[in-house]
Amino acid sequence: MKRSLTDYPLAGKRVLVRVDFNVPLEGGLVADDTRIRAALPTITYLLDQGCAVVLASHLGRPKGQVVGDLRMAPVAARLAELLGRPVKTAADCVGPAVAAAASGLLPGEVLLLENLRFHAAETANDPAFAAQLAALADVYVNDAFGSAHRAHASTEGVTHYLPAVAGFLMIRELEMLGALLGEPARPFVVVLGGAKVSDKIGVIEKMLGSADAILVGGAMCFTFFKAAGLEVGTSRLEADKLDVAAGIAAQARAGACVFELPADIVVAPAPEAGAPASTVPADAMPADQMGLDIGPATSAAFAARLADAGTVFWNGPMGLFEIDEFAAGTKAVAAAIVASGAVSVVGGGDTVSAVRRFGLGDRITHISTGGGASMELIEGKALPGVEALLDRE
Ligand code: 3PG
Repeated sequence: MKRSLTDYPLAGKRVLVRVDFNVPLEGGLVADDTRIRAALPTITYLLDQGCAVVLASHLGRPKGQVVGDLRMAPVAARLAELLGRPVKTAADCVGPAVAAAASGLLPGEVLLLENLRFHAAETANDPAFAAQLAALADVYVNDAFGSAHRAHASTEGVTHYLPAVAGFLMIRELEMLGALLGEPARPFVVVLGGAKVSDKIGVIEKMLGSADAILVGGAMCFTFFKAAGLEVGTSRLEADKLDVAAGIAAQARAGACVFELPADIVVAPAPEAGAPASTVPADAMPADQMGLDIGPATSAAFAARLADAGTVFWNGPMGLFEIDEFAAGTKAVAAAIVASGAVSVVGGGDTVSAVRRFGLGDRITHISTGGGASMELIEGKALPGVEALLDRE
């Protein structure tokens, strides 16, 4: 287990906190503040300890360039509202002016640095850049679970220069997701959706060995259908992953874990609101239609599997839920998970948006702030941002 901020003497110190404030923006405002809210317990704890708090995050993928639309200002404004105190900003994340701002920070004050990825040195994990970040503080806290699968200067490099401990969000994510790899209450049901099989291969292979059932929806099911020789019409699929899908299906047939694909599909000529949608058996999709959601028979079958689940992990919507005509499958799965009373863990930006859209966010045991990070953890991979932290004594 990693050392947390309560296992390290922090009172009165200057603390560099890596947060994951990579949030969606719309019209210059934060469109979803989930990740900012999730970091508040760590920030308020440090402020209560009389720390001077220097926050660092990336926003988007500016690839080493200064991109005006990816400045941290909207994030600082939202954070100040949520904290109920001012949040200072900086024009950069390193350099003499930033160093002066950090060293002048008083106990109880917060400074949010400019987007780390305006410097290519961040993603390159450049040691000199990491040392400059480290020089801003006495201690480093990593609360950026969503970025823990990245070995970047602010997640890994910096730990070579400062004592490094985990924040509260990081600890909770590791506990909740880690429990799925331990001895989850059974039956353990994994629900996977979204567009790409390629994003989920590692998780499926790992879970075929530990889950009781894997339920597959979303556009990724069409790659499995195509690999099985079925007509998938104009549905999205990964033509270069047919072998992989066939291999997974064969592996599933040979194992004890239930691997369930949709029995019926909602199809329409185009992925548009108002398109004439109909439901067809999965093995009779018309050549000129696109699959856009799981059908009602599949929703009922998945709900039956979920009804007695002890633990559920869900990543990836069942269909194009942003459009009402194709939202029923995702809604039914979300409702079935909540109704089951199982320990439920939901990860991935789209899936979290779906759960919130249906007003069920409060009834999920744990909503992970990590997309790629949560998948890599579930695959059983070591996360560089976690590995680099101090171990608990
Ligand atoms: C995420 O949104 O998954 C994290 O913030 C990591 O972002 P990245 O995929 O651009 O590294």
